[in-house]
Amino acid sequence: MVQQKTLVALAAFSFAQVQGITFDTQSADSVKSAASTIASGMISYYNGNETGNVPGLLPAPYYWWEGGALFDTLLRYWQMTGDTQYNDLVSQALVFQQGPNGDYMPPNQTKSEGNDDQAIWALAAMSAAELKFPESANTSWISMAEAVFNDQAARWDTSTCNGGLRWQIFTFNNGYNYKNSASNGLFFQLASRLARYTGNTTYSDWASKVYDWSRDIGFIDEKFNVFDGSDTTTNCTSVNHVQFSYCAGTFISGAAYLYNATSGSSQWKTTLDGFVNQTLAIFFSTGIADEEACESHETCTVDMKAFKGILAQDLTTAIQLAPYLESLIMPILQETAKAAADTCTGGVSGTECALSWTGSSDSSDFGLGQQLSALSYVQALLVSQAATPVTMSTGGSNGTVTTGGGASSTSTSGSSTTSGSAATTTNSAAVAVGKASISLVAALLGSVAWMTL
Ligand SMILES: *[C@@H]1O[C@H](CO)[C@@H](O)[C@H](O)[C@H]1NC(C)=O
Ligand SMILES: *[C@@H]1O[C@H](CO)[C@@H](O)[C@H](O)[C@H]1NC(C)=O
Ligand SMILES: *[C@@H]1O[C@H](CO)[C@@H](O)[C@H](O)[C@H]1NC(C)=O
Ligand SMILES: *[C@@H]1O[C@H](CO)[C@@H](O)[C@H](O)[C@H]1NC(C)=O
Ligand SMILES: *[C@@H]1O[C@H](CO)[C@@H](O)[C@H](O)[C@H]1NC(C)=O
Ligand SMILES: *[C@@H]1O[C@H](CO)[C@@H](O)[C@H](O)[C@H]1NC(C)=O
Ligand SMILES: *[C@@H]1O[C@H](CO)[C@@H](O)[C@H](O)[C@H]1NC(C)=O
Ligand SMILES: *[C@@H]1O[C@H](CO)[C@@H](O)[C@H](O)[C@H]1NC(C)=O
Repeated sequence: MVQQKTLVALAAFSFAQVQGITFDTQSADSVKSAASTIASGMISYYNGNETGNVPGLLPAPYYWWEGGALFDTLLRYWQMTGDTQYNDLVSQALVFQQGPNGDYMPPNQTKSEGNDDQAIWALAAMSAAELKFPESANTSWISMAEAVFNDQAARWDTSTCNGGLRWQIFTFNNGYNYKNSASNGLFFQLASRLARYTGNTTYSDWASKVYDWSRDIGFIDEKFNVFDGSDTTTNCTSVNHVQFSYCAGTFISGAAYLYNATSGSSQWKTTLDGFVNQTLAIFFSTGIADEEACESHETCTVDMKAFKGILAQDLTTAIQLAPYLESLIMPILQETAKAAADTCTGGVSGTECALSWTGSSDSSDFGLGQQLSALSYVQALLVSQAATPVTMSTGGSNGTVTTGGGASSTSTSGSSTTSGSAATTTNSAAVAVGKASISLVAALLGSVAWMTL
């Protein structure tokens, strides 16, 4: 009894001691200061800029794709706050990981790289182009984004499911037989952004094609839910209905770019509104962002802990490109940002933020994805004063189109050097097991849930 009382007292005491980051949502300086603190906690996970380390790579347990998400988040941090302190580090990483063909297929990663992983890096390059991030003489952000687009367009696979991108690029990886909304949704976003940036109809045609396919195959339903994916071995006849926030987010972003590129077409407005409405219902059911497939069960993988931050970035983009959405979206960004910052109590200086912000589960789960997520909501509050994404006709650089590696899903021609060298040094079964494309666990988890239904 006594013991229990003491514990309760101690718990109350330590709870009182813990105070998260607070800020005034109406004061830009206050928001910037909170964002800066959270960003410093985020960057503490990265050491690729230190002598002897590899620029762009994160230490375990973080996989290659998350570096792309990290640098995109830092580009947006610069966009929202004007703070340039991380720009050199971002530039170094985006250039270093581009690979010999400038298409984010660096030889060290290709053996386990998925279409979604490659697209995440391409979207960071796309952000760099849209924000007029400085480029050196031999670097063109837009060319890298285009090179990835060309690779992925060449991988469009009509042999099963009437089309779609497979999740994995190479046959020897787990997940080659899976077509997922992450890979297709990120490709949709990339095509939409290239369409708006260049005005080239090749991109808008592809964006429409990917979107139509995703609906026809049932990854998107009539309520604008976005489901995880389906199997090519069953010709995609049954869809895995798990939902992840960044998959909805990538369709929101793509629809917002197309809405804007078409000067507000009713087709893309209806689509955008549908996705936003359903996203608010599913991922903000308490008014605060929550990765609903895993968070309350405490089953989120390392990868999944970054997803709702990526969603925040997509919602922020939607406000910029479809300003009528601000009154709907901004209140939930504000509530979430405050709740997230409240949990920033970890680390030596209280700069580390927890995964769950709804008070429903573990509040001491800290890590890079959590940090990226909290930062993305807090910095979003500065959107009204931030630079908006440019296009080639409003000052963006036009680059030079490179063709990319041309690695196709069925031939090894484009990737013979990379997969060849990987095969000589690595057991591909081990690679498959250790592989870490974004939604591997999602797919496996999903299949289990799906089979037990
Ligand atoms: C790496 O980046 C961090 C964060 O900006 C910085 O504190 C550190 O000094 C950088 N290290 C090197 C070697 O430049
Ligand atoms: C590939 O790995 C080698 C060995 O670790 C490293 O020296 C090199 O910088 C890496 N390159 C990239 C682009 O990550
Ligand atoms: C690109 O330019 C940088 C200097 O700006 C140089 O260090 C690098 O080697 C160049 N890369 C290529 C592929 O030419
Ligand atoms: C596979 O599904 C597509 C529709 O998604 C259909 O057009 C095609 O005929 C199916 N193929 C087979 C072999 O059943
Ligand atoms: C449009 O983009 C495609 C794909 O990158 C390219 O092949 C084509 O040349 C571009 N067209 C124009 C007019 O620039
Ligand atoms: C989205 O929600 C708004 C406001 O609740 C509503 O007016 C609109 O009709 C909805 N749009 C779609 C496409 O569901
Ligand atoms: C497109 O985006 C720009 C930049 O944010 C914005 O000023 C414009 O109003 C948007 N267009 C539409 C149709 O909303
Ligand atoms: C790209 O920009 C350069 C310099 O601004 C211009 O001379 C060139 O015509 C542009 N190319 C295209 C394809 O728009």
